[in-house]
Amino acid sequence: FILNGPNLNLLGTREPELYGTTTLAEIEAACVGKACEHGLEVDFRQTNHEGVLVDWLHEAHAAGAKAVIINAAAYTHSSIALLDAAKAIAPPVIEVHLSDPQTREDFRHLSYIGQAARQCFKGKGLASYLEAIEAAARL
Ligand code: DQA
Repeated sequence: FILNGPNLNLLGTREPELYGTTTLAEIEAACVGKACEHGLEVDFRQTNHEGVLVDWLHEAHAAGAKAVIINAAAYTHSSIALLDAAKAIAPPVIEVHLSDPQTREDFRHLSYIGQAARQCFKGKGLASYLEAIEAAARL
């Protein structure tokens, strides 16, 4: 499962100086291609709603997903519910970000879900996702 949180549906036009001009559909296509190289299937989703992300983490567990790659976007920095869900499920969780939150505003330095993530790939745009898929394939 590759899960994307709030405002990532706007990629392509959203703050391109920070996030680039690649759309989420283009990220999805690249992820499907990279996963295919490793014989993995991708279920790629986006929502603006915190509880939906919680439900999808549970669904990944129930489906026996090999891994969950998640860009929780702003919920990274606020959601204890996502942290608890990530802790509650069996599939390993890998955190991704297009930008590097550590080099941005102070309020982005704390990642709740990161406390349950095996690894974090950040600051490389689309490549953050592709590196996360490589890591998932190695698990
Ligand atoms: C983001 C970083 C977050 O701080 C921000 O709220 C986002 C996107 C990223 O991919 O760089 O929405 O997760």
